[in-house]
Amino acid sequence: AGPRPLAGRRVLITAGGTIERLDPVRYITNDSSGKMGFALAESARGLGADVTLVCARTDGPPPPGVRVVSAESAEEMYEAVMSRVPETDFVVKAAAVADYRPARRQSSKMKKGPEQLTLELVRNPDILQAIGDWKQAGAAEGGAGRRTPFVVGFAAETGDTERYALDKLKRKRCDLIVANDVSQAGAGFGTDTNIVSVYGDEGLVAALPLQSKRAAADRIWQLAIERASSPAAP
Ligand code: C5P
Repeated sequence: AGPRPLAGRRVLITAGGTIERLDPVRYITNDSSGKMGFALAESARGLGADVTLVCARTDGPPPPGVRVVSAESAEEMYEAVMSRVPETDFVVKAAAVADYRPARRQSSKMKKGPEQLTLELVRNPDILQAIGDWKQAGAAEGGAGRRTPFVVGFAAETGDTERYALDKLKRKRCDLIVANDVSQAGAGFGTDTNIVSVYGDEGLVAALPLQSKRAAADRIWQLAIERASSPAAP
């Protein structure tokens, strides 16, 4: 690969934590800062890619030189991603998507009531799974005239990382899974550094020791580019 191995390639990256609203002023979210997704976007841009960054709630502004699409909730992110997948070469799902959302969203501010309040939550669509299923359906039809993106998923775990990462890779049909043990200092949410393991079909591909998210992003792109262009890659 040359110095701009992603020139002419369309890259879609999701970043941040989704917001699942209860009413106009309250919501459920998570600790994702969006920093890993931003680092991946900046790195891809440096490698020449045409980058679309689908952002949920993030700390700080996205990097310059990329197309930013806001998607607050999991459902909005699903629409933003799935409508673009057919024209994408690489999808990187670094966002922390809420697994559940409130069953009902009140149109006006909820009032205080009895001492206890039970929130009912319903499952959100799994975007990564939907991409995997879409790829699978295309392959079953012979894949004629259809671009199938190389897909990188993320996994934040607090133990037994390898087992969960490989299970996720197979189930969601990703090409690579980047797993971090968010219980380790210097890894995961909010920090500027990360410690990750990258898994492919055959198991562990690379263990990246503590380093800046930007350096980790460069390594992840190197691995994705190598594997996407290798004839052995699925
Ligand atoms: O299963 P788990 O949520 O841990 O998988 C994490 C991966 O799946 C991440 O890449 C995340 O962006 C993606 N995901 C998704 N839609 C969801 C939940 C997770 O795309 N509803």
